[in-house]
Amino acid sequence: MCGIVGYNGNLDAKEILLKGLEKLEYRGYDSAGIAIRNKEGVTVFKEKGRIKDLRNVVDGEIKGNIGIGHTRWATHGVPNKINAHPHQSATKRFTIVHNGVIENYHLLKKQYLNNIPMQSETDTEVIVQLVEQFSKEGLSTIEAFRKTLSLLHGSYAIALLDEEDGDTIYVAKNKSPLLVGVGDGCNVVASDAMAMLQVTNQFIEIHDGEVVLVQKEKIEISTLDGQKIERKPYTVELDASDIEKGTYPHYMLKEMDEQPGVVRKIIQEYSNEAGELSIDEAIFAALRGADRIYIIAAGTSYHAGLVGKEYFEKLAGIPVEVHISSEIGYNMPLLSEKPLFIFISQSGETADSRQVLVKVKELGHPALTITNVAGSTLSREADYTLLLHAGPEIAVASTKAYVAQLAVLAIVAYVAGEGSDVDLKKELAIVANAIQTMVDSKDEMQKIALEYLNNVRNAFFIGRNMDYYVSLEGALKLKEISYIQAEGFAGGELKHGTIALIEEETPVFALVTQEAVALNIRGNVKEVVARGANACVISMEGLNEEDDRFVIPKVHTLLTPLVSVVPLQLISYYAALERGCDVDKPRNLAKSVTVE
Ligand code: F6R
Repeated sequence: MCGIVGYNGNLDAKEILLKGLEKLEYRGYDSAGIAIRNKEGVTVFKEKGRIKDLRNVVDGEIKGNIGIGHTRWATHGVPNKINAHPHQSATKRFTIVHNGVIENYHLLKKQYLNNIPMQSETDTEVIVQLVEQFSKEGLSTIEAFRKTLSLLHGSYAIALLDEEDGDTIYVAKNKSPLLVGVGDGCNVVASDAMAMLQVTNQFIEIHDGEVVLVQKEKIEISTLDGQKIERKPYTVELDASDIEKGTYPHYMLKEMDEQPGVVRKIIQEYSNEAGELSIDEAIFAALRGADRIYIIAAGTSYHAGLVGKEYFEKLAGIPVEVHISSEIGYNMPLLSEKPLFIFISQSGETADSRQVLVKVKELGHPALTITNVAGSTLSREADYTLLLHAGPEIAVASTKAYVAQLAVLAIVAYVAGEGSDVDLKKELAIVANAIQTMVDSKDEMQKIALEYLNNVRNAFFIGRNMDYYVSLEGALKLKEISYIQAEGFAGGELKHGTIALIEEETPVFALVTQEAVALNIRGNVKEVVARGANACVISMEGLNEEDDRFVIPKVHTLLTPLVSVVPLQLISYYAALERGCDVDKPRNLAKSVTVE
Protein backbone atom coordinates (compact mmCIF):
# COMPACT_ATOMS: atom_id res chain seq x y z
CA MET A 1 0.00 0.00 0.00
CA CYS A 2 2.85 2.28 -0.76
CA GLY A 3 3.58 4.13 -3.95
CA ILE A 4 6.80 3.97 -5.93
CA VAL A 5 8.21 6.05 -8.78
CA GLY A 6 11.38 6.02 -10.82
CA TYR A 7 12.80 8.32 -13.49
CA ASN A 8 15.66 7.75 -15.92
CA GLY A 9 16.11 10.40 -18.59
CA ASN A 10 17.45 13.75 -19.72
CA LEU A 11 15.71 15.94 -17.20
CA ASP A 12 16.42 16.62 -13.57
CA ALA A 13 14.81 13.72 -11.70
CA LYS A 14 14.14 15.42 -8.36
CA GLU A 15 11.06 17.48 -9.20
CA ILE A 16 9.57 14.74 -11.38
CA LEU A 17 9.88 12.25 -8.54
CA LEU A 18 8.42 14.61 -5.95
CA LYS A 19 5.49 15.52 -8.22
CA GLY A 20 4.96 11.84 -8.97
CA LEU A 21 4.91 11.01 -5.27
CA GLU A 22 2.35 13.74 -4.65
CA LYS A 23 0.06 11.95 -7.09
CA LEU A 24 0.67 8.67 -5.25
CA GLU A 25 0.11 10.01 -1.76
CA TYR A 26 -3.34 8.39 -1.78
CA ARG A 27 -1.49 5.06 -1.55
CA GLY A 28 0.24 5.92 1.71
CA TYR A 29 1.30 9.05 3.48
CA ASP A 30 3.10 8.33 6.71
CA SER A 31 6.63 8.86 5.39
CA ALA A 32 8.36 9.39 2.07
CA GLY A 33 11.73 9.53 0.41
CA ILE A 34 13.69 9.84 -2.81
CA ALA A 35 17.13 8.76 -4.00
CA ILE A 36 18.95 10.73 -6.69
CA ARG A 37 21.91 9.38 -8.61
CA ASN A 38 24.48 11.70 -10.13
CA LYS A 39 28.27 11.66 -10.73
CA GLU A 40 28.92 11.84 -7.00
CA GLY A 41 26.85 8.72 -6.34
CA VAL A 42 23.43 8.09 -4.83
CA THR A 43 21.97 10.52 -2.28
CA VAL A 44 18.93 9.63 -0.20
CA PHE A 45 16.48 12.07 1.35
CA LYS A 46 13.65 10.84 3.53
CA GLU A 47 11.27 12.13 6.14
CA LYS A 48 8.38 11.12 8.32
CA GLY A 49 5.08 12.62 7.18
CA ARG A 50 3.83 13.83 3.83
CA ILE A 51 5.56 14.74 0.59
CA LYS A 52 5.47 18.38 1.68
CA ASP A 53 7.57 17.35 4.70
CA LEU A 54 9.95 15.50 2.41
CA ARG A 55 10.30 18.61 0.24
CA ASN A 56 11.62 20.46 3.30
CA VAL A 57 14.56 18.09 3.63
CA VAL A 58 15.46 17.60 -0.04
CA ASP A 59 18.53 19.58 -1.01
CA GLY A 60 17.23 22.16 -3.50
CA GLU A 61 20.60 22.20 -5.27
CA ILE A 62 20.91 18.49 -5.91
CA LYS A 63 20.85 17.50 -9.58
CA GLY A 64 20.69 14.05 -11.15
CA ASN A 65 18.96 12.34 -14.07
CA ILE A 66 18.13 9.05 -12.40
CA GLY A 67 16.14 8.56 -9.25
CA ILE A 68 13.58 6.54 -7.37
CA GLY A 69 10.98 7.57 -4.80
CA HIS A 70 8.50 6.14 -2.33
CA THR A 71 5.52 7.15 -0.25
CA ARG A 72 4.85 4.75 2.62
CA TRP A 73 1.92 3.19 4.43
CA ALA A 74 3.66 1.34 7.23
CA THR A 75 3.33 -2.43 7.55
CA HIS A 76 6.66 -3.53 9.10
CA GLY A 77 8.06 -0.97 11.51
CA VAL A 78 6.51 2.24 12.77
CA PRO A 79 6.25 5.24 10.48
CA ASN A 80 9.48 7.16 11.09
CA LYS A 81 12.43 8.49 9.16
CA ILE A 82 14.54 5.35 9.61
CA ASN A 83 11.84 3.01 8.32
CA ALA A 84 11.01 5.33 5.43
CA HIS A 85 12.22 4.24 1.99
CA PRO A 86 14.58 4.30 0.11
CA HIS A 87 16.67 1.77 2.03
CA GLN A 88 20.33 1.14 1.35
CA SER A 89 22.61 -1.86 1.59
CA ALA A 90 25.41 -1.97 4.19
CA THR A 91 28.02 -0.35 1.87
CA LYS A 92 25.33 1.93 0.39
CA ARG A 93 26.06 0.57 -3.08
CA PHE A 94 22.43 -0.50 -3.59
CA THR A 95 19.31 1.60 -2.92
CA ILE A 96 15.77 0.30 -3.04
CA VAL A 97 12.12 1.31 -2.83
CA HIS A 98 9.50 -1.39 -2.34
CA ASN A 99 5.74 -1.72 -2.17
CA GLY A 100 4.38 -4.96 -0.73
CA VAL A 101 5.10 -7.39 2.07
CA ILE A 102 7.92 -9.95 2.19
CA GLU A 103 6.46 -12.75 4.26
CA ASN A 104 9.68 -14.71 4.76
CA TYR A 105 11.97 -11.79 5.59
CA HIS A 106 12.78 -13.11 9.08
CA LEU A 107 13.87 -16.41 7.62
CA LEU A 108 15.96 -14.77 4.90
CA LYS A 109 17.62 -12.52 7.45
CA LYS A 110 18.55 -15.51 9.57
CA GLN A 111 19.72 -17.60 6.67
CA TYR A 112 21.73 -15.08 4.66
CA LEU A 113 22.25 -11.88 6.62
CA ASN A 114 23.23 -12.95 10.10
CA ASN A 115 26.29 -10.72 10.19
CA ILE A 116 24.71 -7.69 8.58
CA PRO A 117 23.47 -5.06 11.05
CA MET A 118 20.04 -3.86 9.93
CA GLN A 119 19.29 -0.15 9.98
CA SER A 120 15.50 -0.36 9.94
CA GLU A 121 12.66 -2.58 11.14
CA THR A 122 11.38 -3.09 7.62
CA ASP A 123 11.05 -6.25 5.54
CA THR A 124 12.30 -4.20 2.58
CA GLU A 125 15.82 -3.78 3.91
CA VAL A 126 16.34 -7.53 3.64
CA ILE A 127 15.91 -7.30 -0.15
CA VAL A 128 18.58 -4.69 -0.65
CA GLN A 129 21.00 -6.39 1.74
CA LEU A 130 20.51 -9.69 -0.10
CA VAL A 131 21.31 -8.08 -3.45
CA GLU A 132 24.53 -6.73 -1.99
CA GLN A 133 25.37 -10.05 -0.35
CA PHE A 134 24.98 -11.96 -3.60
CA SER A 135 26.87 -9.37 -5.62
CA LYS A 136 29.74 -9.65 -3.12
CA GLU A 137 29.75 -13.37 -3.83
CA GLY A 138 30.60 -12.50 -7.44
CA LEU A 139 27.20 -12.20 -9.16
CA SER A 140 26.48 -9.31 -11.51
CA THR A 141 23.79 -6.91 -10.30
CA ILE A 142 21.10 -8.45 -12.50
CA GLU A 143 22.09 -11.95 -11.36
CA ALA A 144 22.08 -10.90 -7.72
CA PHE A 145 18.72 -9.19 -8.22
CA ARG A 146 17.20 -12.28 -9.86
CA LYS A 147 18.58 -14.58 -7.19
CA THR A 148 17.14 -12.33 -4.47
CA LEU A 149 13.73 -12.22 -6.16
CA SER A 150 13.66 -15.99 -6.44
CA LEU A 151 13.93 -16.21 -2.64
CA LEU A 152 11.16 -13.76 -1.80
CA HIS A 153 7.72 -14.94 -0.67
CA GLY A 154 5.04 -12.32 -0.69
CA SER A 155 4.22 -9.26 -2.71
CA TYR A 156 6.50 -6.67 -4.17
CA ALA A 157 6.94 -3.87 -6.63
CA ILE A 158 10.59 -2.89 -6.51
CA ALA A 159 12.85 -0.26 -8.01
CA LEU A 160 16.56 -0.61 -7.30
CA LEU A 161 19.57 1.59 -8.04
CA ASP A 162 23.16 0.39 -8.22
CA GLU A 163 25.69 3.14 -7.51
CA GLU A 164 28.13 1.43 -9.87
CA ASP A 165 25.66 1.43 -12.77
CA GLY A 166 24.59 4.90 -13.77
CA ASP A 167 22.30 3.74 -16.59
CA THR A 168 19.73 1.45 -15.07
CA ILE A 169 16.82 1.20 -12.69
CA TYR A 170 16.26 -2.47 -11.83
CA VAL A 171 12.57 -3.18 -11.50
CA ALA A 172 10.49 -6.23 -10.56
CA LYS A 173 6.96 -7.06 -9.58
CA ASN A 174 4.91 -9.75 -7.89
CA LYS A 175 1.27 -9.12 -6.87
CA SER A 176 1.84 -5.38 -6.22
CA PRO A 177 0.93 -2.99 -9.03
CA LEU A 178 3.65 -1.56 -11.25
CA LEU A 179 3.85 0.09 -14.65
CA VAL A 180 6.73 1.21 -16.79
CA GLY A 181 6.26 4.40 -18.82
CA VAL A 182 7.83 5.20 -22.19
CA GLY A 183 8.66 8.90 -22.47
CA ASP A 184 10.42 11.18 -24.88
CA GLY A 185 14.09 11.02 -23.84
CA CYS A 186 13.23 9.16 -20.68
CA ASN A 187 11.64 6.04 -19.26
CA VAL A 188 9.82 5.87 -15.97
CA VAL A 189 8.40 3.54 -13.34
CA ALA A 190 5.27 4.03 -11.25
CA SER A 191 2.74 2.21 -9.11
CA ASP A 192 0.02 4.11 -10.94
CA ALA A 193 0.08 5.87 -14.31
CA MET A 194 -1.24 9.03 -12.65
CA ALA A 195 2.16 9.62 -11.09
CA MET A 196 3.93 9.89 -14.43
CA LEU A 197 1.29 11.49 -16.64
CA GLN A 198 3.44 14.58 -16.25
CA VAL A 199 6.01 12.85 -18.49
CA THR A 200 4.11 10.38 -20.68
CA ASN A 201 0.78 8.68 -21.35
CA GLN A 202 2.42 5.57 -22.88
CA PHE A 203 2.69 2.72 -20.38
CA ILE A 204 3.69 -0.94 -20.43
CA GLU A 205 2.12 -3.45 -18.05
CA ILE A 206 4.50 -5.53 -16.02
CA HIS A 207 3.34 -8.98 -15.03
CA ASP A 208 4.10 -10.92 -11.88
CA GLY A 209 7.46 -12.61 -11.93
CA GLU A 210 8.97 -10.24 -14.48
CA VAL A 211 12.16 -8.25 -14.19
CA VAL A 212 12.66 -4.98 -16.07
CA LEU A 213 15.75 -2.94 -16.82
CA VAL A 214 14.66 0.66 -17.23
CA GLN A 215 17.26 2.69 -19.08
CA LYS A 216 17.03 6.12 -20.62
CA GLU A 217 16.76 4.80 -24.17
CA LYS A 218 15.34 1.34 -23.69
CA ILE A 219 13.22 -0.91 -21.55
CA GLU A 220 14.09 -4.59 -21.30
CA ILE A 221 11.52 -6.98 -19.86
CA SER A 222 12.37 -10.58 -19.02
CA THR A 223 11.11 -13.44 -16.91
CA LEU A 224 12.78 -14.35 -13.64
CA ASP A 225 14.78 -17.00 -15.48
CA GLY A 226 15.97 -14.53 -18.09
CA GLN A 227 13.71 -15.07 -21.10
CA LYS A 228 13.12 -11.85 -23.00
CA ILE A 229 9.57 -10.53 -23.37
CA GLU A 230 8.29 -8.03 -25.94
CA ARG A 231 5.29 -5.99 -24.90
CA LYS A 232 3.88 -2.91 -26.57
CA PRO A 233 2.89 0.20 -24.64
CA TYR A 234 -0.73 1.27 -24.39
CA THR A 235 -2.11 4.78 -24.12
CA VAL A 236 -3.57 5.86 -20.82
CA GLU A 237 -6.61 7.96 -21.68
CA LEU A 238 -6.43 10.18 -18.64
CA ASP A 239 -6.32 13.88 -18.76
CA ALA A 240 -3.90 15.44 -16.27
CA SER A 241 -6.77 17.76 -15.21
CA ASP A 242 -8.81 14.70 -14.14
CA ILE A 243 -6.42 14.25 -11.29
CA GLU A 244 -6.29 17.87 -10.13
CA LYS A 245 -8.51 19.34 -7.44
CA GLY A 246 -9.07 22.55 -9.39
CA THR A 247 -10.80 25.09 -7.18
CA TYR A 248 -12.11 22.48 -4.75
CA PRO A 249 -10.69 22.45 -1.22
CA HIS A 250 -10.78 18.64 -1.21
CA TYR A 251 -10.89 15.81 -3.72
CA MET A 252 -13.74 14.27 -1.75
CA LEU A 253 -15.95 17.31 -2.34
CA LYS A 254 -15.06 17.34 -6.04
CA GLU A 255 -15.77 13.64 -6.35
CA MET A 256 -19.13 13.90 -4.60
CA ASP A 257 -20.03 16.73 -6.98
CA GLU A 258 -19.11 14.56 -9.95
CA GLN A 259 -21.65 11.88 -9.06
CA PRO A 260 -24.57 13.02 -11.25
CA GLY A 261 -22.19 13.18 -14.23
CA VAL A 262 -20.81 9.73 -13.41
CA VAL A 263 -24.30 8.18 -13.52
CA ARG A 264 -25.01 9.88 -16.85
CA LYS A 265 -21.68 8.72 -18.26
CA ILE A 266 -22.41 5.13 -17.19
CA ILE A 267 -25.80 5.22 -18.92
CA GLN A 268 -24.03 6.38 -22.05
CA GLU A 269 -21.16 3.86 -21.83
CA TYR A 270 -23.57 0.96 -21.33
CA SER A 271 -26.00 1.91 -24.11
CA ASN A 272 -25.79 0.25 -27.52
CA GLU A 273 -26.35 1.90 -30.88
CA ALA A 274 -30.09 1.40 -30.56
CA GLY A 275 -29.93 3.35 -27.31
CA GLU A 276 -30.68 0.30 -25.15
CA LEU A 277 -28.74 -0.67 -22.06
CA SER A 278 -26.39 -3.50 -22.95
CA ILE A 279 -23.29 -5.38 -21.85
CA ASP A 280 -20.72 -7.48 -23.62
CA GLU A 281 -22.27 -10.68 -24.99
CA ALA A 282 -19.72 -12.97 -23.36
CA ILE A 283 -20.52 -11.44 -19.96
CA PHE A 284 -24.23 -11.78 -20.63
CA ALA A 285 -23.69 -15.47 -21.45
CA ALA A 286 -21.61 -15.98 -18.29
CA LEU A 287 -24.38 -14.46 -16.18
CA ARG A 288 -27.11 -16.49 -17.84
CA GLY A 289 -25.02 -19.64 -17.43
CA ALA A 290 -24.56 -19.16 -13.69
CA ASP A 291 -26.77 -20.88 -11.15
CA ARG A 292 -25.44 -18.62 -8.38
CA ILE A 293 -23.40 -15.44 -8.22
CA TYR A 294 -20.75 -14.92 -5.54
CA ILE A 295 -19.97 -11.25 -5.02
CA ILE A 296 -16.56 -10.68 -3.43
CA ALA A 297 -15.45 -7.27 -2.16
CA ALA A 298 -14.14 -5.22 0.77
CA GLY A 299 -15.24 -2.07 2.59
CA THR A 300 -17.38 0.29 0.56
CA SER A 301 -17.30 -2.09 -2.39
CA TYR A 302 -18.72 -4.81 -0.13
CA HIS A 303 -21.55 -2.44 0.77
CA ALA A 304 -22.18 -1.96 -2.95
CA GLY A 305 -22.21 -5.75 -3.29
CA LEU A 306 -25.01 -6.03 -0.74
CA VAL A 307 -27.15 -3.76 -2.90
CA GLY A 308 -26.00 -5.67 -5.98
CA LYS A 309 -27.43 -8.87 -4.51
CA GLU A 310 -30.89 -7.25 -4.48
CA TYR A 311 -30.45 -6.21 -8.11
CA PHE A 312 -29.45 -9.64 -9.35
CA GLU A 313 -32.14 -11.42 -7.38
CA LYS A 314 -34.94 -8.96 -8.18
CA LEU A 315 -34.07 -8.00 -11.76
CA ALA A 316 -32.45 -11.20 -13.04
CA GLY A 317 -33.73 -13.93 -10.73
CA ILE A 318 -30.20 -15.19 -10.05
CA PRO A 319 -29.44 -16.11 -6.42
CA VAL A 320 -26.49 -14.27 -4.92
CA GLU A 321 -24.15 -14.58 -1.96
CA VAL A 322 -22.06 -11.57 -0.93
CA HIS A 323 -18.77 -12.18 0.86
CA ILE A 324 -16.11 -10.04 2.47
CA SER A 325 -12.96 -10.89 0.54
CA SER A 326 -10.67 -11.20 3.57
CA GLU A 327 -13.01 -13.83 5.04
CA ILE A 328 -14.02 -16.01 2.11
CA GLY A 329 -10.46 -16.51 0.86
CA TYR A 330 -9.61 -18.69 3.83
CA ASN A 331 -13.02 -20.28 4.24
CA MET A 332 -14.63 -21.07 0.90
CA PRO A 333 -18.32 -21.95 1.30
CA LEU A 334 -19.82 -24.94 -0.46
CA LEU A 335 -20.17 -23.65 -4.00
CA SER A 336 -23.06 -24.22 -6.38
CA GLU A 337 -22.57 -26.26 -9.55
CA LYS A 338 -22.14 -23.32 -11.90
CA PRO A 339 -20.92 -20.36 -9.87
CA LEU A 340 -19.93 -16.98 -11.31
CA PHE A 341 -17.69 -14.83 -9.14
CA ILE A 342 -18.05 -11.06 -9.35
CA PHE A 343 -15.26 -8.99 -7.84
CA ILE A 344 -16.16 -5.39 -7.05
CA SER A 345 -13.19 -3.13 -6.50
CA GLN A 346 -12.71 0.55 -7.19
CA SER A 347 -8.93 0.22 -7.40
CA GLY A 348 -8.80 -3.28 -8.84
CA GLU A 349 -5.76 -3.84 -6.62
CA THR A 350 -7.18 -4.92 -3.26
CA ALA A 351 -4.99 -7.80 -2.08
CA ASP A 352 -7.76 -9.43 -0.03
CA SER A 353 -9.92 -9.69 -3.14
CA ARG A 354 -7.04 -10.73 -5.33
CA GLN A 355 -6.16 -13.72 -3.19
CA VAL A 356 -9.76 -14.93 -3.63
CA LEU A 357 -9.53 -14.43 -7.38
CA VAL A 358 -6.36 -16.53 -7.49
CA LYS A 359 -8.20 -19.36 -5.67
CA VAL A 360 -11.25 -19.02 -7.91
CA LYS A 361 -9.04 -19.36 -10.99
CA GLU A 362 -7.33 -22.41 -9.47
CA LEU A 363 -10.78 -23.96 -9.00
CA GLY A 364 -11.53 -23.16 -12.65
CA HIS A 365 -14.57 -20.94 -12.08
CA PRO A 366 -15.36 -17.87 -14.21
CA ALA A 367 -14.77 -14.41 -12.73
CA LEU A 368 -15.94 -10.93 -13.64
CA THR A 369 -14.29 -7.82 -12.18
CA ILE A 370 -16.19 -4.55 -11.85
CA THR A 371 -13.58 -1.86 -11.37
CA ASN A 372 -12.75 1.76 -11.97
CA VAL A 373 -9.21 1.08 -13.16
CA ALA A 374 -8.67 -0.44 -16.59
CA GLY A 375 -5.63 -2.70 -16.62
CA SER A 376 -5.65 -3.16 -12.83
CA THR A 377 -4.62 -6.52 -11.39
CA LEU A 378 -8.16 -7.75 -10.69
CA SER A 379 -9.20 -6.69 -14.17
CA ARG A 380 -6.30 -8.42 -15.88
CA GLU A 381 -6.66 -11.64 -13.96
CA ALA A 382 -10.42 -12.10 -14.24
CA ASP A 383 -12.09 -13.56 -17.34
CA TYR A 384 -14.21 -10.44 -17.85
CA THR A 385 -14.13 -6.79 -16.81
CA LEU A 386 -16.74 -4.08 -16.61
CA LEU A 387 -15.51 -0.55 -15.99
CA LEU A 388 -17.11 2.00 -13.68
CA HIS A 389 -16.19 5.02 -15.83
CA ALA A 390 -16.14 7.18 -12.70
CA GLY A 391 -12.84 8.89 -13.50
CA PRO A 392 -9.95 8.77 -11.01
CA GLU A 393 -11.06 8.71 -7.38
CA ILE A 394 -8.30 10.27 -5.32
CA ALA A 395 -9.89 10.92 -1.90
CA VAL A 396 -9.35 7.90 0.31
CA ALA A 397 -13.04 7.79 1.23
CA SER A 398 -14.87 6.30 -1.71
CA THR A 399 -17.91 8.25 -2.91
CA LYS A 400 -18.41 8.43 -6.66
CA ALA A 401 -17.01 4.93 -7.15
CA TYR A 402 -19.69 3.54 -4.79
CA VAL A 403 -22.46 5.27 -6.73
CA ALA A 404 -20.87 4.06 -9.98
CA GLN A 405 -20.70 0.49 -8.64
CA LEU A 406 -24.42 0.60 -7.86
CA ALA A 407 -25.28 2.00 -11.29
CA VAL A 408 -23.20 -0.62 -13.11
CA LEU A 409 -24.55 -3.46 -10.94
CA ALA A 410 -28.10 -2.33 -11.67
CA ILE A 411 -27.42 -2.26 -15.41
CA VAL A 412 -25.71 -5.67 -15.43
CA ALA A 413 -28.55 -7.26 -13.44
CA TYR A 414 -31.14 -5.56 -15.60
CA VAL A 415 -29.53 -6.74 -18.86
CA ALA A 416 -29.06 -10.25 -17.45
CA GLY A 417 -32.72 -10.27 -16.44
CA GLU A 418 -33.92 -9.46 -19.98
CA GLY A 419 -37.64 -9.27 -19.31
CA SER A 420 -37.60 -6.81 -16.38
CA ASP A 421 -40.46 -4.34 -16.47
CA VAL A 422 -38.37 -1.52 -14.97
CA ASP A 423 -37.37 1.15 -17.51
CA LEU A 424 -33.91 1.28 -15.98
CA LYS A 425 -32.43 3.80 -18.37
CA LYS A 426 -35.15 6.30 -17.59
CA GLU A 427 -34.97 5.54 -13.86
CA LEU A 428 -31.20 6.06 -13.80
CA ALA A 429 -31.61 9.41 -15.54
CA ILE A 430 -34.05 10.38 -12.77
CA VAL A 431 -31.47 9.23 -10.23
CA ALA A 432 -28.79 11.46 -11.81
CA ASN A 433 -31.08 14.47 -11.39
CA ALA A 434 -31.91 13.49 -7.82
CA ILE A 435 -28.20 13.21 -6.96
CA GLN A 436 -27.75 16.68 -8.44
CA THR A 437 -30.43 17.99 -6.08
CA MET A 438 -28.54 16.35 -3.21
CA VAL A 439 -25.14 17.78 -4.04
CA ASP A 440 -26.80 21.16 -4.46
CA SER A 441 -28.03 20.88 -0.86
CA LYS A 442 -24.58 21.20 0.69
CA ASP A 443 -25.53 24.07 3.00
CA GLU A 444 -28.28 22.00 4.51
CA MET A 445 -25.95 19.03 4.98
CA GLN A 446 -23.43 21.25 6.70
CA LYS A 447 -26.16 22.43 9.06
CA ILE A 448 -27.18 18.84 9.79
CA ALA A 449 -23.56 17.89 10.51
CA LEU A 450 -23.29 20.75 13.01
CA GLU A 451 -26.67 20.06 14.56
CA TYR A 452 -26.19 16.34 15.11
CA LEU A 453 -22.47 15.62 15.18
CA ASN A 454 -20.91 18.48 17.06
CA ASN A 455 -18.79 17.09 19.91
CA VAL A 456 -20.35 13.65 19.83
CA ARG A 457 -18.55 10.44 20.75
CA ASN A 458 -20.55 8.09 18.60
CA ALA A 459 -23.36 7.92 16.05
CA PHE A 460 -25.72 5.31 14.68
CA PHE A 461 -27.18 4.80 11.25
CA ILE A 462 -30.29 2.68 10.88
CA GLY A 463 -32.40 1.46 8.02
CA ARG A 464 -34.18 -1.60 6.74
CA ASN A 465 -33.67 -3.52 3.53
CA MET A 466 -31.86 -1.26 0.99
CA ASP A 467 -31.63 1.45 3.64
CA TYR A 468 -29.79 -0.92 5.94
CA TYR A 469 -27.03 -1.42 3.34
CA VAL A 470 -26.75 2.35 2.92
CA SER A 471 -26.62 2.74 6.72
CA LEU A 472 -23.52 0.56 6.74
CA GLU A 473 -21.93 2.75 4.11
CA GLY A 474 -22.98 5.98 5.87
CA ALA A 475 -21.40 4.76 9.11
CA LEU A 476 -18.19 3.76 7.33
CA LYS A 477 -17.94 7.17 5.68
CA LEU A 478 -18.41 8.99 8.97
CA LYS A 479 -15.95 6.91 10.98
CA GLU A 480 -13.19 6.84 8.40
CA ILE A 481 -12.97 10.58 7.86
CA SER A 482 -14.21 12.14 11.13
CA TYR A 483 -13.07 9.39 13.57
CA ILE A 484 -16.48 9.49 15.26
CA GLN A 485 -17.31 5.93 16.24
CA ALA A 486 -20.22 5.11 13.95
CA GLU A 487 -22.19 1.93 13.37
CA GLY A 488 -24.80 0.98 10.82
CA PHE A 489 -27.63 -1.31 11.91
CA ALA A 490 -30.66 -3.01 10.55
CA GLY A 491 -33.42 -1.07 12.35
CA GLY A 492 -34.98 -4.24 13.73
CA GLU A 493 -31.67 -5.43 15.21
CA LEU A 494 -31.26 -2.46 17.56
CA LYS A 495 -33.53 -3.89 20.22
CA HIS A 496 -31.49 -7.10 20.27
CA GLY A 497 -28.60 -5.41 22.03
CA THR A 498 -27.33 -2.21 20.57
CA ILE A 499 -30.15 -0.04 21.85
CA ALA A 500 -28.36 -0.26 25.23
CA LEU A 501 -25.88 2.28 23.82
CA ILE A 502 -28.52 4.92 23.09
CA GLU A 503 -28.41 7.69 25.65
CA GLU A 504 -29.38 11.35 25.89
CA GLU A 505 -28.43 13.15 22.62
CA THR A 506 -26.94 10.11 20.86
CA PRO A 507 -27.22 10.92 17.14
CA VAL A 508 -29.19 8.36 15.15
CA PHE A 509 -29.55 8.81 11.40
CA ALA A 510 -32.53 6.89 10.06
CA LEU A 511 -33.22 6.31 6.39
CA VAL A 512 -36.81 5.91 5.22
CA THR A 513 -36.90 5.19 1.49
CA GLN A 514 -38.43 1.68 1.37
CA GLU A 515 -42.19 1.74 1.38
CA ALA A 516 -42.58 -1.89 2.47
CA VAL A 517 -40.73 -1.26 5.73
CA ALA A 518 -41.35 2.45 6.25
CA LEU A 519 -43.66 1.93 9.21
CA ASN A 520 -41.26 -0.51 10.85
CA ILE A 521 -38.29 1.83 10.64
CA ARG A 522 -40.42 4.69 11.95
CA GLY A 523 -41.19 2.41 14.89
CA ASN A 524 -37.45 1.98 15.47
CA VAL A 525 -36.99 5.75 15.38
CA LYS A 526 -39.63 6.09 18.10
CA GLU A 527 -37.79 3.50 20.20
CA VAL A 528 -34.52 5.41 20.11
CA VAL A 529 -36.15 8.80 20.59
CA ALA A 530 -37.91 7.43 23.68
CA ARG A 531 -34.42 6.71 25.05
CA GLY A 532 -33.15 10.23 24.42
CA ALA A 533 -31.62 9.87 20.93
CA ASN A 534 -31.25 12.88 18.68
CA ALA A 535 -32.84 11.30 15.60
CA CYS A 536 -32.25 12.68 12.12
CA VAL A 537 -34.74 11.15 9.72
CA ILE A 538 -33.86 11.30 6.03
CA SER A 539 -36.86 10.10 4.06
CA MET A 540 -37.91 9.93 0.45
CA GLU A 541 -40.61 12.07 -1.09
CA GLY A 542 -43.92 10.24 -0.79
CA LEU A 543 -42.85 8.55 2.45
CA ASN A 544 -41.97 11.74 4.33
CA GLU A 545 -43.54 13.00 7.53
CA GLU A 546 -43.62 16.42 9.04
CA ASP A 547 -40.64 16.20 11.40
CA ASP A 548 -38.25 14.55 8.96
CA ARG A 549 -34.98 16.47 8.80
CA PHE A 550 -34.41 16.05 5.07
CA VAL A 551 -36.43 14.68 2.19
CA ILE A 552 -34.69 13.22 -0.85
CA PRO A 553 -36.34 13.30 -4.28
CA LYS A 554 -38.44 10.29 -5.28
CA VAL A 555 -36.64 7.63 -7.29
CA HIS A 556 -37.32 3.95 -8.08
CA THR A 557 -37.32 1.85 -4.87
CA LEU A 558 -34.43 -0.29 -6.06
CA LEU A 559 -32.29 2.74 -6.89
CA THR A 560 -32.71 4.71 -3.66
CA PRO A 561 -29.19 3.78 -2.41
CA LEU A 562 -27.61 5.84 -5.20
CA VAL A 563 -29.35 8.92 -3.85
CA SER A 564 -29.72 8.34 -0.10
CA VAL A 565 -25.99 7.74 0.29
CA VAL A 566 -25.20 11.27 -0.92
CA PRO A 567 -26.52 13.17 2.13
CA LEU A 568 -24.63 10.72 4.35
CA GLN A 569 -21.41 11.35 2.40
CA LEU A 570 -21.88 15.12 2.66
CA ILE A 571 -22.79 15.03 6.36
CA SER A 572 -19.63 12.98 7.04
CA TYR A 573 -17.56 15.43 5.02
CA TYR A 574 -18.79 18.44 6.97
CA ALA A 575 -18.48 16.65 10.32
CA ALA A 576 -14.86 15.83 9.48
CA LEU A 577 -14.17 19.41 8.38
CA GLU A 578 -15.64 20.74 11.60
CA ARG A 579 -13.26 18.53 13.57
CA GLY A 580 -10.28 19.71 11.56
CA CYS A 581 -9.62 16.25 10.12
CA ASP A 582 -7.64 15.64 6.98
CA VAL A 583 -10.63 14.72 4.84
CA ASP A 584 -8.82 13.38 1.79
CA LYS A 585 -6.16 11.46 3.70
CA PRO A 586 -7.60 10.12 6.95
CA ARG A 587 -5.20 8.68 9.47
CA ASN A 588 -4.07 5.07 9.14
CA LEU A 589 -5.79 4.59 5.79
CA ALA A 590 -4.65 4.25 2.21
CA LYS A 591 -6.61 4.28 -1.00
CA SER A 592 -5.26 1.09 -2.45
CA VAL A 593 -5.05 -1.73 0.07
CA THR A 594 -2.44 -3.98 -1.50
CA VAL A 595 -1.61 -6.01 1.61
CA GLU A 596 -3.73 -8.85 3.00
C1 F6R B 1 -13.91 3.33 2.10
C2 F6R B 1 -13.11 2.66 1.08
C3 F6R B 1 -12.68 1.27 1.35
C4 F6R B 1 -12.59 0.48 0.05
C5 F6R B 1 -11.95 -0.89 0.30
C6 F6R B 1 -11.91 -1.72 -0.95
O1 F6R B 1 -14.27 4.61 1.71
O2 F6R B 1 -12.80 3.22 0.08
O3 F6R B 1 -13.49 0.64 2.27
O4 F6R B 1 -13.87 0.33 -0.48
O5 F6R B 1 -10.65 -0.71 0.78
O6 F6R B 1 -11.22 -1.09 -1.96
P1 F6R B 1 -11.46 -1.40 -3.48
O7 F6R B 1 -12.83 -1.00 -3.82
O8 F6R B 1 -10.43 -0.60 -4.20
O9 F6R B 1 -11.25 -2.88 -3.65
